[in-house]
Amino acid sequence: MYDDRKGEAMKTYRIGLIGLGGMAHSHVRWMNEEGRYRVVAASDVDERALAERGEQLGIASGKRYADFEELIADPEVDAIVSVTPNNVHAAILSACLAAGKPYLVEKPFTRVFEEARGLLEQYERMPVSGMVGFSYRYTPAFRYARELVREGRLGTVRSFSVQYLQSWGSVANDTPYLWRFNKDITGTGTLGDLGSHMIDLARYLFGEFEELSAQMRTFVPERRDPGTGAMVKVEVDDFVSFQARMTGDAVGIFQSSRNAIGSGNQHEISIYGDRGTLHASTVHPDRVVWIREEAPGQLAKSEIEVPARCQVTQYGDFLSLLDGQASDGLPDFMDGYRNQEVLDAVIRSSEEKRSVSL
Ligand SMILES: NC(=O)c1ccc[n+]([C@@H]2O[C@H](COP(=O)([O-])OP(=O)(O)OC[C@H]3O[C@@H](n4cnc5c(N)ncnc54)[C@H](O)[C@@H]3O)[C@@H](O)[C@H]2O)c1
Repeated sequence: MYDDRKGEAMKTYRIGLIGLGGMAHSHVRWMNEEGRYRVVAASDVDERALAERGEQLGIASGKRYADFEELIADPEVDAIVSVTPNNVHAAILSACLAAGKPYLVEKPFTRVFEEARGLLEQYERMPVSGMVGFSYRYTPAFRYARELVREGRLGTVRSFSVQYLQSWGSVANDTPYLWRFNKDITGTGTLGDLGSHMIDLARYLFGEFEELSAQMRTFVPERRDPGTGAMVKVEVDDFVSFQARMTGDAVGIFQSSRNAIGSGNQHEISIYGDRGTLHASTVHPDRVVWIREEAPGQLAKSEIEVPARCQVTQYGDFLSLLDGQASDGLPDFMDGYRNQEVLDAVIRSSEEKRSVSL
């Protein structure tokens, strides 16, 4: 690709991809759609996945690593994309910081908050730019909602409600035991998986969490191991709800479940301000519903197409970061850290049955 303004070819970045499972397919597709990315190295602990996906992605056999540390240290890799289960997130990010290598790492930031604390110390000693996979910042309807909130178009925001619902964990689906139910690997269930996105959306729109009160539930207490056929106890949450007060005094209610039959991938927010109400959802990512006073005393409800300027992509922003340009609202290291701090507050509130201040 060519930069007309500078009159020079734009740099293509050599990516090292860690974790070659389900979500890595989306990352590869997004990189291809953007251009200026070339996956040159890959790492996975699953030998078969490494060989098969390595072949499909055209990665030279010498650039297929069983050990992600070796991939991160490879001088022919410019940046890291990490899509592994949660128990390796902290070690991968730590290795990126140590190597000074830019990163796009999947959420949740870490498995548990203690890991995030250790990373913060390391980051403060030597900050390295990167991005955390809070991908819903790139849902046009949410981006537009942020613009309207910031411009005061809804008036003072008094309250909001956020939900993120999926159905795949429901009893009717009879989903087998997998790493997403294993506390040692995942840390939390729905909370870290979907709740981290809700928390990020609230922070993206309204600022920091001040105080919250939460409850977590496991609806399906054991699931069948697909390998052994034995039933295994589930130690993480299927459902979480919490209410919170944000900086500026807006209050929000949050719920997330992977057991909501009929919900494919339903992440949505309703925002209630003094001058209007706004509904935005991943179900209709390119439009919002806005209820506002159009003439004195006259309320009108309209469905509005999101303006083209809100069509920003995660990998477009990652390119800006790699090019050394700042982009507004990019989910960075500190967004990951603060998110994990809120996740921890939710766990403590639920376990101790009390409000927690942040
Ligand atoms: N941003 C989003 O909306 C979104 C959506 C889905 C998943 N995710 C995140 O992506 C991550 C991966 O999810 P997934 O669904 O792709 O999981 P997955 O189980 O399908 O794939 C994970 C892959 O990582 C590999 N792996 C495990 N340990 C490794 C290690 N030490 N080194 C290298 N590879 C290792 C596994 O062998 C597997 O191939 C999770 O953290 C999840 O939270 C984010």
